Amino acid sequence: MPDQVRVRVPATSANLGPGFDTFGLALTLYDDLVVTPAGSGVTVEVTGSGEGEVPLDESHLVVRSIRAGLEALGVPVPGFTLRCENRIPHGRGLGSSSAAIVGGLAAAYGLAGVPVDRDRIVVLANEIEGHPDNVAAAALGGFTIAWTEGDVGRAIRLDPVDGLAAVAYVPDNRVLTKEARGLLPGVVSHIDASANAGKAALLVAAMTTRPELLLIATEDRLHQEYREPAMPESLALVHKLRGSGLAAIVSGAGPTVAVLGRPDETSAPAGKAAGQPAFFRGTPDAPDGWTRYDLGIDPVGVQVWSMESG
Ligand SMILES: Nc1ncnc2c1ncn2[C@@H]1O[C@H](COP(=O)(O)OP(=O)(O)O)[C@@H](O)[C@H]1O
Ligand SMILES: [Mg+2]
Repeated sequence: MPDQVRVRVPATSANLGPGFDTFGLALTLYDDLVVTPAGSGVTVEVTGSGEGEVPLDESHLVVRSIRAGLEALGVPVPGFTLRCENRIPHGRGLGSSSAAIVGGLAAAYGLAGVPVDRDRIVVLANEIEGHPDNVAAAALGGFTIAWTEGDVGRAIRLDPVDGLAAVAYVPDNRVLTKEARGLLPGVVSHIDASANAGKAALLVAAMTTRPELLLIATEDRLHQEYREPAMPESLALVHKLRGSGLAAIVSGAGPTVAVLGRPDETSAPAGKAAGQPAFFRGTPDAPDGWTRYDLGIDPVGVQVWSMESG
């Protein structure tokens, strides 16, 4: 067994407009984990997001996921210390729960000394998370398409178009995924369902080869508007940004709003803004009380390093 396992796992955006529970995108914002086998039981230390809020015992989501991973791999590790350095905000629709689950499962592979099996991590993570879209992107990186076969989570990864980037506008308030999912209707109209099927198909092209179609391809009729009562400011921001031609969506279950676009570095002017991609310059500042993150696309998903002290 290694003396220590280190894990880096990305934030993710899901749905991306029309692809409810299907599309995922891995972003360059990360949680870092350090796991050190020791004794029995667990000691957990958290800095950053969730500090002072998440439990520090066996019920901690990363601990539960490490345990689930070790059990699936049939490797007993009675105890360990876990250090979490969290940057992904919690309860905002940037996949913090998926990062915790995928990070914990990947750590189990590191502890067991076996190479990470990303497809199996999607299966196991979907069992814990209950839907596969964010966990797919956290496990595989890039742009992912997830689905379920029976209850089994599956996903494929596609390369997003070169230079794709995202601006995430994150409000101070949280909306728990459970609450946001509770607002969705049991039945939708055929016309809305078919509109979304078409836009979802188009979005695969827009994300991979035709970014000029991102605005039209991110139109949704199945979930965003229904969530308005839980996040009116987010929907207002989506409408405002889309009205100015930007491909804005509610990220995951919200309330974060994300804008997708391709930086066009050749059009960056000389001077103060030189080097800052045109796409980032062309998006407005965060509203008061919101934080803006300028992000790239993480290409690889969760990463694991095992350390041996010779
Ligand atoms: N890194 C983490 N460590 C422990 N628990 C976490 C972590 N990230 C998320 N969680 C748990 O998941 C909850 C947020 O999950 P969720 O409502 O799905 O929002 P998000 O969109 O951020 O995934 C947190 O309140 C916390 O209970
Ligand atoms: Mg979540």
